[in-house]
Amino acid sequence: MTTVPVTANNDPCWCGSGRRYKRCHRLADLDPARVAREQAEREQAERLAAAYVRPGRRSPRREVPAHIPRPDYALDRHGRPKHRDTGRPKDAETIARMRVACRAAAEILQTVGAAVRPGVTTDELDAIVHEECVSRGGYPSPLGYGGSVMPFPKSLCTSVNEVICHGIPDSTVLKDGDIVNCDVTIYLDGVHGDTNATFLVGEVAEQDRRLVEVTRECLDRGIAAVRPGGRIRDIGRAIQTHAEGHGYGVIRAFVGHGVGRSFHSDPQVFHYDNPAATGEILPGMTFTIEPMISIGDWRHEMWDDGWTAVTADRSRTAQFEHTLLVTDDGAEVLTVA
Ligand code: MF3
Ligand code: CO
Ligand code: CO
Repeated sequence: MTTVPVTANNDPCWCGSGRRYKRCHRLADLDPARVAREQAEREQAERLAAAYVRPGRRSPRREVPAHIPRPDYALDRHGRPKHRDTGRPKDAETIARMRVACRAAAEILQTVGAAVRPGVTTDELDAIVHEECVSRGGYPSPLGYGGSVMPFPKSLCTSVNEVICHGIPDSTVLKDGDIVNCDVTIYLDGVHGDTNATFLVGEVAEQDRRLVEVTRECLDRGIAAVRPGGRIRDIGRAIQTHAEGHGYGVIRAFVGHGVGRSFHSDPQVFHYDNPAATGEILPGMTFTIEPMISIGDWRHEMWDDGWTAVTADRSRTAQFEHTLLVTDDGAEVLTVA
């Protein structure tokens, strides 16, 4: 049974804090269980806040000089594309332009990757990519691209830890042990080049390094499954087999895509074995493969911003992406520096 001290409400507290008893230990004396529970809840909330990504503050919009040609959606208030490419094989001229845009994307990805370290903010990474795109005469494709809530407000996607993809750069400070995916797309000479990679921030736990490594292997397996005359489905099957063989989940909600004059077009490139993906792979097609692999659940939840996707169980997730050209005997990776 609890003994209620005889201290009067307005007397100094018995603990010596100098505060009045009613403002200090009275509640703890009356209901110690409640006080302990509330304290435990506060500590748990603090642990969660430190463990998981939260939205930070966004910097003002970065401008693109007027002389740089913009993709059609960037001229629309809602970021909606006017035209959408077919997924059919590209002509030689388009392919030649894509080589240049894809190489630029790969170089920019390398540059931003070299800037990843504990203490850097995702907004600083965005600034680097924005500047690299503009200095090449290119437009950072994410900027102003349409979404369900708002057009994407930044020039780079930065997806930290349990963020699957489309994280928005902000004041978030990367810390030792984080993993961060940087997804770079540049619109250059009328075509897009799209590539991403997951980078380690300082010293990363073995299980997360393993995730990143296997995810890179998943992309390699997917690329190796590309064969003219084969089916889009073959790509996802190869990826899913490798990921699940390691006990990982394949995120379903986001797919690879045709890319060229349009940022996103057919075909949809599933990263799991989807029987509906019967489309034939033909020489001259250009598309991305960009598997997102999680340590746990493959299901996702969306933040209120309409962009940031996180794993439902908050397990960590990694991604790698290349833009490919289908050749006469396989695939050529265009996003190489
Ligand atoms: N680069 C992403 C992809 O691989 C798309 C980003 S859309 C954005 O398809 F609006 F979020 F930038
Ligand atoms: Co892509
Ligand atoms: Co991308």
